[in-house]
Amino acid sequence: MITARAHTNIALVKYWGKKDQQLIIPQTDSLSLTLSEFYTDTGVEFTDGLTTDQIQIDGQSITGHAADKVKNFLNLVRQISGINRYAKVVSTNHVPMSAGLASSASAFAALATAASKAAGMNLDRRSLSRLARRGSGSATRSIYGGLVEWHRGTDNASSFAEPVMENLDFGIEMIAILINTSKKKVSSRHGMQSSVTSSPYYPAWRKVVAHDMIAIKEAIKNKDIDQIGHIAEENALRMHALTLSADPGYTYFTGDTIRAIQAVNHLRSQGISCYYTMDAGPNVKVIYDRKNREKIIQSLGEIFGKEKLIISQPGPGVKIINK
Ligand code: DP6
Repeated sequence: MITARAHTNIALVKYWGKKDQQLIIPQTDSLSLTLSEFYTDTGVEFTDGLTTDQIQIDGQSITGHAADKVKNFLNLVRQISGINRYAKVVSTNHVPMSAGLASSASAFAALATAASKAAGMNLDRRSLSRLARRGSGSATRSIYGGLVEWHRGTDNASSFAEPVMENLDFGIEMIAILINTSKKKVSSRHGMQSSVTSSPYYPAWRKVVAHDMIAIKEAIKNKDIDQIGHIAEENALRMHALTLSADPGYTYFTGDTIRAIQAVNHLRSQGISCYYTMDAGPNVKVIYDRKNREKIIQSLGEIFGKEKLIISQPGPGVKIINK
């Protein structure tokens, strides 16, 4: 069995909408930070004698929709590699506690890496990035560590990610505030498509992202955490405006999401710079310079409880962890 470890990532300039749903070609570029704290280990073995793919996640055999997504992905690997055996897949999500932060990004980056290797292919990172994309868009970026850019491209060959800065020599850090760990009601897959087809603001979003991509890369070059955080925060709010403005409109925010946003705004008004971002769920992630860590933990800990805060550093790219 070949086992790969991939870390999840948090987008600072979000991917929210596909041009091609089949190939998962996005409408816009995006940029993310790979995280040290949340990762998935996935082992894959193609063996004779199986009559179907066997998939185990966190100790449980899975069936239904989640299993179908993995099977479809394995079909793609079989098609590319020419292998015709079924696979045994064993996957474990490592999150500090039962946090609801297990992500499709780390899952499909690990699966792409382990399955392609187990099928006898030796793909370079760009090809792995393209392959991971077919499982879940955000997985495209989890092949690499640090700050990563996904070029939207126009077809399968041209849509892949690459590192912007893989080893970070400045103090960007992130705290995840665990607000609600239950499963989200509107999947990102469904949510983003509804924004593309029904939000009147979608054309404006494409312009926002084009602008933010240029600005954030400049801020990264300058190692300017305040500017990076500011762009990420604005970008997240504008992404969430696409959910509110869809038909039917909806939101991933809960009351506690708003409380967290207000807590970050309050810290900033006290002169402690930090910024927030949210994905397709209620949890809030706070971006800051590690020199401010203690003050931020103190303040957020008083509101949410310190046990609800997970500190994460920039994390590494995908690796095969056996042989
Ligand atoms: C809000 O990668 O989960 O996290 O491609 O349909 O699997 P699919 O969607 P997914 O969407 C991620 C959306 C996001 C923003 C981002 O990670 O860029």
